[in-house]
Amino acid sequence: MNRFVFFGGKGGVGKTTVSAAYGLNCARAGLETLLVSTDPAHSTSDVFDQQFGDEPTAVSGHDGLWAMEIDPEAEIDRHMREIKATMSDQVSPAIVNEIDRQIELAHRTPGAYEAALFDRLIDVMRSSEDYDRVVFDTSPTGGTLRLLSLPEFLESWVERLREKRAESVDLFEKAAIGDKEARAKLADDPILARLAERKEQFAFAGETLREDAAFFLVLNPDELSIEESHRAVDDLESAGLSVGGLVVNKVAPEPDPEESGTGATFLRERHRTERDRLDRIEREFDQPIVAVIEQRVAEIKGGLLDEIAAELDIDVTAAPPEQG
Ligand SMILES: Nc1ncnc2c1ncn2[C@@H]1O[C@H](COP(=O)(O)OP(=O)(O)OP(=O)(O)O)[C@@H](O)[C@H]1O
Ligand SMILES: [Mg+2]
Repeated sequence: MNRFVFFGGKGGVGKTTVSAAYGLNCARAGLETLLVSTDPAHSTSDVFDQQFGDEPTAVSGHDGLWAMEIDPEAEIDRHMREIKATMSDQVSPAIVNEIDRQIELAHRTPGAYEAALFDRLIDVMRSSEDYDRVVFDTSPTGGTLRLLSLPEFLESWVERLREKRAESVDLFEKAAIGDKEARAKLADDPILARLAERKEQFAFAGETLREDAAFFLVLNPDELSIEESHRAVDDLESAGLSVGGLVVNKVAPEPDPEESGTGATFLRERHRTERDRLDRIEREFDQPIVAVIEQRVAEIKGGLLDEIAAELDIDVTAAPPEQG
């Protein structure tokens, strides 16, 4: 199994629950495991009845399991401060205020949250050498899974920006021939350096996702969730990323044959409909169904989480040692 494992799916299908259960299995198999939540509602804290923050924290009661909840809003603020600081070194004090205003506006535009989230995901992937397995519980907010198919695209976009910047630096240099100070300043243009760094980040993300990441989709036996999963498979595949398997969660249990009455009739009907959906999933997807999990009567934590962990048929064996 790859070192990075992502769980995606529509809102509320059970991504957080399944990620936690899989993380638990990995830790129990002796892997140092980090569970990363990108969900602003932070339900990992609910599953383990423990608060987590932006840094990995040991999950109490579970050896080898760590969790963190990344906060894109904080990342956006950090971004904004960083860019303001870089810009104010570059421009005259007279226009700093106007630029600050523009930067703030830019950070409130659609896409800023996704960009910040993506940056933070890359950071976490980069700085997680201490863990054998990193499990990402992706949130539907910001379309995290869709973001993962972007690195190639972003890399070439940043490269175009870099070329443009290099051209204008070059023109500026030519215009400034004889002016030693201007030349010296342009030799290490901070914007070019920053773009080069971004390009390198995206290249790293693309390579890591293709070579060392596995993707699983969680879905429920309903039409919307099935449609969404088809889209996710397509998006990932068009980026060269393949989905390893499907977890079908919240499947209605079947009442005993002798049970009658409204409740039992309802459940029997429901169970039948969901059977059809399960058949449909099996027919329509190339990916294997790695677990079919029944709906429980209460939220999943404690002993129920253990039950679900036992039902997951997803490989936890350690990744092969890296080639030297
Ligand atoms: N098999 C199940 N039986 C009963 N309840 C479940 C089951 N799986 C998940 N739940 C409950 O459903 C709710 C949503 O699950 P979960 O938070 O794992 O979904 P999610 O996909 O992460 O949601 P979001 O998209 O909001 O992040 C939670 O209260 C969870 O305890
Ligand atoms: Mg969740």
